[in-house]
Amino acid sequence: MLIGILKETAIHERRVSIVPDGAAALIAKGIEVVIESGAGESAYYPDRAYQDKGARIAATRETVLAADVLATVNLPGVPLADRRAIIERLHPQQIMMGLLNPLGDPKLMDALAARNVTAFALELVPRITRAQSMDALSSMATVAGYSAVLIAARTLPRFFPMLMTAAGTVTPARVFVIGAGVAGLQAIATARRLGAVVHAYDVRPAVKQEVQSLGAKFVELDLETRAAADSGGYARAMDERFYARQRELMSRVLAHSDVVISTAAVPGKKAPVLITRQMVSLMPPGSVIVDLAAEQGGNCEATKPGGTVVERDVTILGPQNLPSSLPYHASQMYSKNITSFLLYVQKELPEEGTGERLVLAEDEIIHDTLVMHGGRIVNARVREALGNSALPAEERQTV
Ligand code: NAI
Repeated sequence: MLIGILKETAIHERRVSIVPDGAAALIAKGIEVVIESGAGESAYYPDRAYQDKGARIAATRETVLAADVLATVNLPGVPLADRRAIIERLHPQQIMMGLLNPLGDPKLMDALAARNVTAFALELVPRITRAQSMDALSSMATVAGYSAVLIAARTLPRFFPMLMTAAGTVTPARVFVIGAGVAGLQAIATARRLGAVVHAYDVRPAVKQEVQSLGAKFVELDLETRAAADSGGYARAMDERFYARQRELMSRVLAHSDVVISTAAVPGKKAPVLITRQMVSLMPPGSVIVDLAAEQGGNCEATKPGGTVVERDVTILGPQNLPSSLPYHASQMYSKNITSFLLYVQKELPEEGTGERLVLAEDEIIHDTLVMHGGRIVNARVREALGNSALPAEERQTV
């Protein structure tokens, strides 16, 4: 098996899908690695480092595109003309893997299916213990939560820590984190390390202890949250009455916060609006909101995805692709995720020429992540998102 590492060409993308240590791990398992020259450069992994681990540097992009498996980070972000040029060169039976945005980019899914490739989307990796090392969304959310706090600290016209100096005492910044999932917990930990007083809220009461163990206070809101999590522990979308009450109760917390990091997300749904313009106006002048849910529509009514808005002296940031701002470690983590995934999938795939079929129902990880095979979309969630009818039961089992 030959795996190709493409140079990422999405705008502002600095990550690379596999770092030299990841290439070494694959080579140790008998997989050949070919990399487009310069693919790791913007993440500070030079060609030389890959060669030292036994990977081959391709003279042309075509060589990489001909590999059996293509590893990518951000194909959906690649400008359309370049994306077309990549897709045109794909060949049947080739395997694509990466963050493919299958639920949000139907055109990309159709274009890939038309090339008859087998595609796995890493954002569909189930959050189960066995798949933790493959969970790229968690890795990238860790980077985002950390970066969000650093951005807030740079934007805030105040210190984060308490200081007792000859020039007087500085009171610590008050940070409120909404949503204590992966990004939120990392934001709490980072803000605490910088010395802020941190409060956090999540609709899943189960996270209270985690919040407290990081040195933050869990905000208790008088809300009925028993239905707020599904059996898998994920947040459910609630009705507008619930959110209206949540906004009302959170207003007083916002009025005393210098920084809000909002990360509230419901898988596969638009992010709930939890901060209205009116709530923004209650915040102290100079305060900062970093809305990590910007790409899903935003938790704050005033958020501009990818932009900065100032409303009544409150700065609201809606950063996109924060993982790319820390390319070295974001790539290292992503590389671990994608190589673990590849090695796992490789074990499960039927050997070529044996005529055996891939039994989807037998493996939750493959079942959830396989988007397309044999020229058609087989993933039920993606089919639903694209408005396609469900496959007949017998066809859902094997591909
Ligand atoms: P997650 O699913 O682990 O956490 C989201 C949390 O929000 C969950 O704990 C959930 O219970 C909570 N939540 C849902 N509704 C809520 C509500 N009404 N009030 C309070 N909490 C609520 O998600 P993860 O991985 O931590 O990601 C968080 C957000 O950060 C997502 O929107 C994700 O897309 C975004 N993100 C943004 C990046 C960027 O560059 N801007 C990069 C990575 C992630």
